[in-house]
Amino acid sequence: MAVSIEEQTVVQLGGAASVLARQRRDHAEMDRLMDRWGALADGAERERLLKELVQLVFSHAFAEETVLWPAVRRSVEGGDELTSRVEEEHQQINDLVAEIERLSPGSAGREEKVRRVFSLIRQDIRDEEDVVLPRLQEALPAAQLRRLGTAWDTVRRTAPTHPHPVIPRRPPGNALLGVPLGACDRIRDAVGAGRARKGRASGAGGAAGDAGDAETRQKRLEILLNDHLAGAAGAAELARRMVREHGEGPDGDKLRDLARQCAQDRLALQRQLGELGIPVRHYKVYGAWLGEKAGRLKPNGRLLRGTGLSLLVELGALRLAAQGKALCWRALLAAARRDTRLDAARLLELLRRAEQQMETLDALHDEAAGALLAGTATARHDA
Ligand SMILES: [Fe+2]
Ligand SMILES: [Fe+2]
Repeated sequence: MAVSIEEQTVVQLGGAASVLARQRRDHAEMDRLMDRWGALADGAERERLLKELVQLVFSHAFAEETVLWPAVRRSVEGGDELTSRVEEEHQQINDLVAEIERLSPGSAGREEKVRRVFSLIRQDIRDEEDVVLPRLQEALPAAQLRRLGTAWDTVRRTAPTHPHPVIPRRPPGNALLGVPLGACDRIRDAVGAGRARKGRASGAGGAAGDAGDAETRQKRLEILLNDHLAGAAGAAELARRMVREHGEGPDGDKLRDLARQCAQDRLALQRQLGELGIPVRHYKVYGAWLGEKAGRLKPNGRLLRGTGLSLLVELGALRLAAQGKALCWRALLAAARRDTRLDAARLLELLRRAEQQMETLDALHDEAAGALLAGTATARHDA
């Protein structure tokens, strides 16, 4: 009988870097935040705790869905059923938090919703620590649990921190759409933190406030561009893989053209970071990881192979990535109104290209879907 990870020592979990130990640390922090929230009366501190909890829960769940559950599905018998249950819990938490974020503090029914979401989070923690994670522990050696821990941590640091109904729960769609949305979330969090800092600074003098503003803007650009770069690296890797797998098919030329553009988009971004004096952060490891997983971790790899669905899923993933790119070029264009270091004409060109990629991908997707659903598809697209 598998032992709950709650009852094991860190060494038994595979060490502090193991994904099991990392998961448990996050869960303990969630518990602490929920307990503190419960002990406080209404007020600013209670709201701050709730915000902190939401950010932790969403980045944590995203890393689970992107890294952990695919590993469970690959390695644990009945893994699909096990992960479906926790994904359902995540969806309920997502929906409820989205409702809470639409209500202002103190409004009718909000407190009850918060308590409901806490009980869902606690249920999710129990299901993971008592059922899903011990099964993963039985299936994988400690070294692999530590490798998963590293990937989990990298994804968690660039994950969305708020609910997004548009993000699918499974790879590759969740990863490719989650990257740009994660960037937007962290910018939103940084704006809140920046405002709080500005409030403090204006008490201490205007000049300090202005300096804080410039620093906050640069920080936001750093988050946006690095995350965008991770997504662009993932998309470029996926497009290259698609050329390798489907390049001989009827859409080979279009796929090669898309792959070329994705590689250019990635270079354009790298150049943009250089021009703004922004250091490149961990995108390489994340981008390569993302691209590889996006290409390999289809919702059900074995079932898709040889059915033509593989191309369909990859086209969908690349479409999400192009959409993410377009959103981020648009965000940079908005920033260019105040920041003269940004080249608006060049950004507009890149935005048009992302929109064109979306159109091409829509057409390729419709064509592949039509052929598949009309029963005329062959396995020609699948390696
Ligand atoms: Fe979870
Ligand atoms: Fe969890």
